[in-house]
Amino acid sequence: MTDASPQSEGDLAFFEDLQPPASDFRADVLAGLSRPQKALSPKYFYDKTGSEIFDRITQAPEYYVSRTEIALLDRIGPELRDLAGPAAVVLEPGAGSSVKIRKLIDALDRPAAFVGMDISGDHVKAACRDIASDHPDLLVGAVCHDFTQGIDLSALPLPDGRRVVFFPGSTIGNFELDGALALLQTLRGWLRDGDALLIGVDLRKDGATLEAAYDDAGRATADFNYNLLKRINVELDGTLDPSGFDYRAFWNPYRSRVEMYLQASRDMAFSVAGQDFMIRKDETIHTENSHKFTVDTFQDLARKAGLAPRTQWVSDGEPFSIHWLEVSGEA
Ligand SMILES: C[S@@+](CC[C@H](N)C(=O)[O-])C[C@H]1O[C@@H](n2cnc3c(N)ncnc32)[C@H](O)[C@@H]1O
Repeated sequence: MTDASPQSEGDLAFFEDLQPPASDFRADVLAGLSRPQKALSPKYFYDKTGSEIFDRITQAPEYYVSRTEIALLDRIGPELRDLAGPAAVVLEPGAGSSVKIRKLIDALDRPAAFVGMDISGDHVKAACRDIASDHPDLLVGAVCHDFTQGIDLSALPLPDGRRVVFFPGSTIGNFELDGALALLQTLRGWLRDGDALLIGVDLRKDGATLEAAYDDAGRATADFNYNLLKRINVELDGTLDPSGFDYRAFWNPYRSRVEMYLQASRDMAFSVAGQDFMIRKDETIHTENSHKFTVDTFQDLARKAGLAPRTQWVSDGEPFSIHWLEVSGEA
């Protein structure tokens, strides 16, 4: 947490900068590359370039996730308006370019406030400014923070009113199940009686569709992965050669997840932040998982986090779900 109170900036009612220190990135990368199965945390994909590449991914024909969720939001808008009631205060962790929030703002009954929150501070600030200028009656704030870390929401100048925490994009699927449970518990902590978590959760489907979605022919997802190596080179004085890696995405039906890797095409020595590493031909760096749920497996997890499923909707076409969860009082 910073000691400074959130500042207003341009059209934004406030911007709170809780960006994690650069030392976290360094420590996490060194620890991940030192493991027997080398791994990097997907939260580091999202520097400025990574956030822009993610927007390209959402446009890839094979990446059904974004367009399916947007179509479902359009379909359920009137029900969301009734559930949220007037003057809701909407918070979106991992907001990114805030495309989907526009659907929600348009659907709701005169929402009082929107707060976009993301680890990619400049990106979320710019996206929230655009929303503020398009919605002059809405109080719009932005926060740069890591949603896996705590945040004191009472430090933000939020109006009273029902809080709706909006967590689309099936970002919850990027976590191992214990991490997903912990994150749901964190988000539950943002809610009071009567508030809600509105969350998008991708559902199991056939492996070919999933592998194509996460390894698009236009190579956007591959570029997203290579960009993480480039980010390490620039920010951590790394000597990784992205051209020495092939990008791979596999559907693992036993763990119900798509697993993404960078696979070395030859033996390579490299260094990061002054530490030396070796990767052998065919050895992999695990960069991301995207877990796929059924409605039941997700709702069981939500209940364990103290969230009571009230309503859920499943898309037409490729199955994708959106859930309205309320505080159950049991966490
Ligand atoms: C899969 S994208 C989803 C973006 C947007 N919500 C959507 O549905 O299209 C994940 C977003 O979460 C952000 N993000 C990832 N890990 C994060 C973390 N630990 N804390 C805060 N934001 C994070 C990324 O910067 C990115 O904008």
